[in-house]
Amino acid sequence: MKDQDQARKLWGGRFKTATDHLVERYTASVHFDHCLAEQDIQGSVAHVRMLARQGVLEQGEAEMIMRGLEQVRDEVRSGAFVWREELEDVHMNIEARLTELIGESGKKLHTGRSRNDQVALDFRLYVAQALEHWQVCLKSLIRVLLERAREHQGTLLPGCTHLQPAQPVSLAQHLLAYAWMLVRDEARTADALRRVRVSPLGAAALAGTIYPVDPEQVAADVGFPRAFENSMDAVSDRDFVIEAVCAGSLIMAHLSRFCEELIMWANPAFGFVLLPEDYATGSSIMPQKKNPDVAELMRGKTGRVYGALISLLTLVKGLPLAYNRDLQEDKEPFFDADATVHNSLRLMAGMMAKMVFVPEKMFALLRKGFLNATELADYLVGKGLAFRDAHRIVGRIVAFAEKRGLALEELSLEQLQSFSMLIQKDVFPVLDYREAIRRRNARGGTGPEAVQRQIEKLVKWLDQSD
Ligand code: ARG
Repeated sequence: MKDQDQARKLWGGRFKTATDHLVERYTASVHFDHCLAEQDIQGSVAHVRMLARQGVLEQGEAEMIMRGLEQVRDEVRSGAFVWREELEDVHMNIEARLTELIGESGKKLHTGRSRNDQVALDFRLYVAQALEHWQVCLKSLIRVLLERAREHQGTLLPGCTHLQPAQPVSLAQHLLAYAWMLVRDEARTADALRRVRVSPLGAAALAGTIYPVDPEQVAADVGFPRAFENSMDAVSDRDFVIEAVCAGSLIMAHLSRFCEELIMWANPAFGFVLLPEDYATGSSIMPQKKNPDVAELMRGKTGRVYGALISLLTLVKGLPLAYNRDLQEDKEPFFDADATVHNSLRLMAGMMAKMVFVPEKMFALLRKGFLNATELADYLVGKGLAFRDAHRIVGRIVAFAEKRGLALEELSLEQLQSFSMLIQKDVFPVLDYREAIRRRNARGGTGPEAVQRQIEKLVKWLDQSD
């Protein structure tokens, strides 16, 4: 860059030497923060409108600036806008273009404002919009899970602890467990959103401004319920984006757990699900393969979002007040996390809507795993035995049945009685897997009535949150 070009920089007044080209490249952010163009223009329009209302700018001049900004917006939308790296960031690119278009008046846009409060507002607007999308996607996924749960209230699944067969549950109960996690994710997102939607405009560089600005007015203009309380805090904290990515990390944690199960269930050894073909991929060498790549990648991409969270936490940990250029590094981690969370939620909803569940396979594995052993122990307790004694006796019966390759319900009454004479004919209905589920209707249980109550609560939640 020639030295005289330095004068073109909006902050170039005191400089005689041009910026080193590597420095220019290193410090520029326009290649990623151009995504904030819409928010930047929205914020600028609100700022100008407020300046006019406060008498800082003449009405006619303010209108000219607003018209100019609209033209810039059109150019950005049509793709005609030329982004220039030497102008550093989205803010200076837009301001420079505005001045090109409308002349001297364009330079008045920045009255009573700094890029420090400007970028904080732009980013808050961007994050707010992203979180609103997450909320919509979360609700869609919850709706799909609810539908699938309704279909499978009568489908039995071996419930696990330690990934070992434990007790029978309904597939509905299993799917609803994820729905409830996502309900909390939605609440977390909504809660984060409340603190994102605070306008920092009016904080200026760090100390506030001498102009009679009205931050509340700007906040209302951009649709935020509140304005900042402290100028130094307003320009320098990024806790709002950290909270957002934290909510996103938990969303991914939940999706990733679910993915892990789907990957396992798709393995023919389980065979609990058949992946929809449009959500699976083949192998270039093994013709028989149908791979759960979407679920695997979702599990893998979870790490990116955690990475973004750690980046952001680390970014702010040593920053003195107020604005520091380090903060420019807040955007890319969020953009990446946002894309990952958003796409993962949408893909999971699409995949779940089409997932083929195979109840016969679930039932076959259920019968192999002695999942009615707890029922038998409880039965003996019902006959007056202490639970510990009942536990030991049933353990022996399981070992006996396992050796013969039989399920508990396949043993004869005589065989059962050789372990305890408390066992009578009435044991057999107790060993029925369906009966084990039917009896668990206490709050939150896998029993059909308890599941029905969960479904009703979720329906109500969805209605109220719309
Ligand atoms: N590109 C900057 C950022 O994203 C904008 C604010 C720069 N402010 C400054 N005084 N250099 O943080």
